[in-house]
Amino acid sequence: MKSDIVRLKIGGVVTEKEKIIPGLEGVPIAESEVSYIDGEKGILEYRGFPIQELVEKSSFEENSFLLLKGRLPTREELTEFDNELKENRELKFRFIDILKSFPDMGHPMNVLQASVAILGMYYPIDDVEDEKEVERAVGILLAKIPTIIAAWNRIRHGFEPLPPRKDLSHSANFLYMILGKEPDDKMTNIMDASLICHADHTMNASTFTARVVTSTQAKPHAVIASAIGALSGPLHGGANEHVVRMLRAIGSVENVRPYIQNMIRSGSKIMGLGHRVYKVKDPRASILQKLAELYFASHGSTPLFEVAKEVEKYAVEILKDKKIYPNVDFYSGIIYEKMGIPTDLYTPIFVMARIVGWLAHWREQLVNNRIFRPTQVYVGEHGKKYIPVDQR
Ligand code: COA
Repeated sequence: MKSDIVRLKIGGVVTEKEKIIPGLEGVPIAESEVSYIDGEKGILEYRGFPIQELVEKSSFEENSFLLLKGRLPTREELTEFDNELKENRELKFRFIDILKSFPDMGHPMNVLQASVAILGMYYPIDDVEDEKEVERAVGILLAKIPTIIAAWNRIRHGFEPLPPRKDLSHSANFLYMILGKEPDDKMTNIMDASLICHADHTMNASTFTARVVTSTQAKPHAVIASAIGALSGPLHGGANEHVVRMLRAIGSVENVRPYIQNMIRSGSKIMGLGHRVYKVKDPRASILQKLAELYFASHGSTPLFEVAKEVEKYAVEILKDKKIYPNVDFYSGIIYEKMGIPTDLYTPIFVMARIVGWLAHWREQLVNNRIFRPTQVYVGEHGKKYIPVDQR
């Protein structure tokens, strides 16, 4: 890039100087009522409710209703919403046949992205402004994503998927389909709390992607498939998988300092640390660390937890001037690992949660929609003379 300063031309008239903001840092792109972050104070709220209170008192189902509809449900509304999800969990056998045709080595995030696009062919939506159709699309996407993740996990190992159960909650049913046995209450509650923690997070890269695709009036399956692609990157949701791989590579508390020094020296980013908005420890990282402690107290700990705490201690010590602290991805993976969930399913679990936020933003974007069409700074050449191929 030659210059980050440009004269902005509107209607052929040079009006003012504009600066490119790398990564659009601090640039508001929409008004939103879905969630709120104060990065200096470490505050996160969904629809005005502190995240800590929702994690402690709510459930995945209730929190999803809250994010999608903007208010807490009555008992009847919650039961109806819950039943809707239960009714939508199953996959058609032809859809399962398609999953069986994917390569065994396919990363579950690729499978999920493709599967969501395919769902759009099975459950087309004609009018994104028809409230009934919107509700139907939301129910289908929310309910079927856990079934797809679990089905793929069995299919890739040569087993038939386990059919979802209607007598279990969203989190318990997912764990049952993954692990092949009913989870205990603690495991279910911790998965539920983790899903709530990941449900929305203002204008992050995947939510912005969802908003951009929504603005074209694309259908919700295209919106969600695009957002899944954005979330898969290691700088975004993909970090949770990389954190656990890094902790395994470190191996022991003694190895933490040399390993981290090496990473810093080579200019590598330490996965699960740092955030564009938080200048203190991400409140979700604190919640997940507490949940990990709770879970390990009853189910036995993992050496990775001690390694993780030492990484946090040392990294914060040497990176404190840059205000680098653990983010949501730092402690989630070690909980899932202890539950027996395969490492490459951690980011798909993030999708199970974040789809709620994406769909809430989809609905919000449609209310006052204008297609996203930013501008660029052209730094290429002009008026070049074309030379025929055999004269070059
Ligand atoms: N490890 C080491 N240094 C880090 C770091 C990390 N995880 N995250 C940021 N930094 C350093 C950068 O090297 C940079 O230093 P410099 O000013 O000397 O060049 C400074 O902190 C600012 O980082 P920058 O990359 O500009 O911040 P960003 O807002 O563009 O990026 C993240 C934010 C989250 C992408 C970034 O912190 C990161 O890559 N973290 C690791 C991946 C991760 O955990 N992602 C999940 C996010 S929820």
